[in-house]
Amino acid sequence: MNALHPDLSRIVVSADQIQTRVKELAGQISTDFSNGDQLYIVGILKGAFIFLADLTRQLTVPHAVDFMALSSYGKTTSSGAVRILMDLREPIEGKNVIIVEDIVDTGRTLEYLYRILKGRKPASLHSCVLVRKQRDNLNIPIEYLGFDIPDVWVVGYGLDFADKHRTLPYIAELKRD
Ligand code: PRP
Repeated sequence: MNALHPDLSRIVVSADQIQTRVKELAGQISTDFSNGDQLYIVGILKGAFIFLADLTRQLTVPHAVDFMALSSYGKTTSSGAVRILMDLREPIEGKNVIIVEDIVDTGRTLEYLYRILKGRKPASLHSCVLVRKQRDNLNIPIEYLGFDIPDVWVVGYGLDFADKHRTLPYIAELKRD
């Protein structure tokens, strides 16, 4: 195997682990929605684009894909307000919606999305998240979760540091210096 990029200290979730889990999650979703109407898959840009592409190609039930882009102010401060940069193209009233996120860190983005999207009266609203950082104060329901990971800065498989490392096939810890 190639050497790890010098910015990275270790692999946290390997490419094989990701691909296996993505297949399992797609199988679970396909089973849970096998009798329902078309799913409306909402990917949160930018980070979710790779996870969403792999996940949706493994779904065996009808689905449409849409995207939202969000920005959060002061990620490291307690304010952490979230706002919509790009909204969905269609109303979601009466649809079975699944939010697809690469990571839940503080949980603010997902909390905000739940509140906003719930207000649009979907038939159902679920979330599918590849990795969740282990924090004591996180209390958001995630119906489809890939992995719990330690509270360290990770990149790869959609996750970035200053827009770098998003296209790595694995998730790795960034070195701190
Ligand atoms: C990341 C990630 C989530 C959010 C999670 O997005 O894609 O949307 O942070 O963090 P939270 O749980 O603390 O709210 P980011 O703002 O880094 O933008 P990007 O996806 O465009 O890189």
